[in-house]
Amino acid sequence: MTHKRIVLIIGGGIAAYKCLDLIRRLKERGIAVRAVLTRAGEQFVTPLSVGALSNEPVFTNLFDLDSEREIGHIRLSRDADLIVVAPATADLLAKMAGGHADDLASTVLMATDKPVLVAPAMNPRMWLHPATQRNVAQLKADGITVIDPAVGEMAERGEAGPGRLPEVPVLVAHILTALGISGPEPAASHSGLDTPGGRAALTGRHVLVTSGPTHEPIDPVRYIANRSSGKQGHAIAAAAARAGARVTLVSGPVHIADPTGVEVVHVETAQQMLDAARRALPADVGVFTAAVADWRVAAAQSQKIKKQAGATAPKLTLAENPDVLKSIAAKGPQRPGLIVGFAAETDNVTAYAAGKLKSKNADWIVANDVSPATGIMGGDRNRVHLVSAEGIEDWPEMSKDDVAEALVARIAAHFRACADGAQ
Ligand code: CTP
Repeated sequence: MTHKRIVLIIGGGIAAYKCLDLIRRLKERGIAVRAVLTRAGEQFVTPLSVGALSNEPVFTNLFDLDSEREIGHIRLSRDADLIVVAPATADLLAKMAGGHADDLASTVLMATDKPVLVAPAMNPRMWLHPATQRNVAQLKADGITVIDPAVGEMAERGEAGPGRLPEVPVLVAHILTALGISGPEPAASHSGLDTPGGRAALTGRHVLVTSGPTHEPIDPVRYIANRSSGKQGHAIAAAAARAGARVTLVSGPVHIADPTGVEVVHVETAQQMLDAARRALPADVGVFTAAVADWRVAAAQSQKIKKQAGATAPKLTLAENPDVLKSIAAKGPQRPGLIVGFAAETDNVTAYAAGKLKSKNADWIVANDVSPATGIMGGDRNRVHLVSAEGIEDWPEMSKDDVAEALVARIAAHFRACADGAQ
């Protein structure tokens, strides 16, 4: 367990509720959190709920004599290993860039000699406004780390673009990196609850996930395969189930256990994977993590191919396999509302991913670099980029479990935004 301490400055914004989950997850990792609420922040979360989770006093007012006597704002800003501002509003960024110190949050930020990590969240137009961009450039020049906001649907109806507060597991990963903490993480008590009201985020949804490699037979004892472990896909299925979804996991042959609370269909070949995926429809979302073999042996033998003295080695003729993702994502009444593909690349990662987004008719592609040096294939950690029509989000390196949690939270946010837009 680490004994790090952060000060979390919570600005005013609809995303402030995510700070409650953020505090809980930081505390699970042994990180103490002292929260400062701006006056606008107090409109979105209460000092009572923040204090109950952080188990520390919550600071709101610069001229609160009681808390000044207990711990002055100078000490508050210097006792911490890191100051985190989330969500950082356009106004807070402007104050920071201009060096204002007229409330507790801005005073703490001016008085600190510790690293500062800022997670802006606002309407896309406000984020892209030249004044905000100028302030962000100033903050970066001042040595402050600014996390790019996520892209996608906003709380305001019909608004989309960069400006969303990243999902909590993504924020946690940024904070761990800033604190210099890496390596194995404690078994977190993922709740799958990520809604303002605390309802399981994917209740009533059906999620289809493909996972693992496929085995394409050469003869009854030999097959063509790849190095996929199934860890990422299984983690996504488990995270979706924890978030309240009904989950069908179509899995190729793997050496890991079936996740609990998930209906698992075991298959071997690409064709079987496609058939099982089709049978699982309708689904609200399809997540295609499987490393499906692109080719099969055109004429697999029904008997073991024998070595014959003096004979040349047998030649294998390959035939193209069906593309499971592309087939399910094709336009039609059965197409799930949200299609998430994965792209395992060894070079030009985001460019190839953007190409697959279009060619496979997917809504999002989660792209990762699987070149051998990354250790991702078969490993426990992953570094991904979420590519959509709205843009690219670069997520920091995290465990495959946390990538799964982040993706499921992102899927839940997508459905929330769709539901809000439909009202
Ligand atoms: N995919 C699929 N069926 C296939 C091939 C790929 O469902 N026959 C899906 C994967 O599950 C993944 C996405 O398509 O979500 C991209 O897979 P990837 O192997 O990166 O792409 P390919 O289409 O195989 O292209 P290439 O191997 O040339 O990069």
